[in-house]
Amino acid sequence: MTTPAERYRDRLPLDSGWPVVSLGEGSTPLIPAPRISARLGVDVHLKLESANPTGSFKDRGMTIAVSQALADGARAVICASTGNTAASAAAYAARAGIPAVILQPEGAVALGKLMQARAVGARVLEVRGTFDQALAAARELGERGTHVLVNSVNPYRIQGQKTAAFELAEALGGPPDVLALPYGGGGNTRAYALGFEEWGEAMPRIIAGEAAERATTLASAIRIAEPVHRAEAEAAITASGGSVVSLTDDELLAAWRELAEREGVFCEPSSAAGVAALARVELEPGSRVVCVITGHGLKDPAAVERATVAPLQVDPDPDAIAAAAG
Ligand code: F0G
Repeated sequence: MTTPAERYRDRLPLDSGWPVVSLGEGSTPLIPAPRISARLGVDVHLKLESANPTGSFKDRGMTIAVSQALADGARAVICASTGNTAASAAAYAARAGIPAVILQPEGAVALGKLMQARAVGARVLEVRGTFDQALAAARELGERGTHVLVNSVNPYRIQGQKTAAFELAEALGGPPDVLALPYGGGGNTRAYALGFEEWGEAMPRIIAGEAAERATTLASAIRIAEPVHRAEAEAAITASGGSVVSLTDDELLAAWRELAEREGVFCEPSSAAGVAALARVELEPGSRVVCVITGHGLKDPAAVERATVAPLQVDPDPDAIAAAAG
């Protein structure tokens, strides 16, 4: 399987001699969502970025950022994260053979993501503060030159991330009419806008779903009070004719449930933001819509415990099981 770095080499800032640090990212599935399509009267496809090696979209940018860091002789990488950037940075650093320092807001990261970073041997530090405060500290250490910062303010992250737009345009024979995705810090939104701009055909209308209560949402991946890419992301959204939609946790959970129960796609709650946002905008009947599913459901088991019914306990007796099965 070719990786985005190989497939789109001429569209990426890769020096020829570069060893690319890869875990087999990209080429993620694009699947139809027939029931969501029927409800909305449009043709919805889901881009399963949750199928990347560490279970989130972050791997596309991380392969390029960590490769560049290695080529530059980095001794260690650092990031602040609500969990997915951490899991990705930790895995790619392990692959590259360099240490990763991970700053996570204490008590605010989903269990699966915490375990991922620990499992691959990253130095995980729980910061007594918010994501925004942890990011400020990571940026400072990046500027001191002791660590290479691999948050999405690192331009190589956006470069790698834009390859998702190329894959969509190739798979659909052109860009979709509408692109719907979650909006946390805005790096992913920026990357898609850059990718479609470089692709050179029409820019999709970008519908970005953010948490209405940014600082406290149950969708911990997008619990970000101050989006670091706000100006550029929102300029791109406006220029595309799209909009930012602020979503309550109930709206996020309803979309999360619909994806899981009606389409069989188990994602983490924040990843349902694109689908949730579609319900709040006017859509041209029959138009082609892609929702980006950014992270896998297994990352956040606590969300499932909160939002679904616990299993019943039964004896290993066929009659009892038949009665309980309903
Ligand atoms: N979806 C998931 C699953 C995420 O983990 C994130 C961001 C987003 C959406 C939002 O993307 O920030 O580019 O607008 N996660 C970051 C992290 C903040 O640290 O893992 P964005």
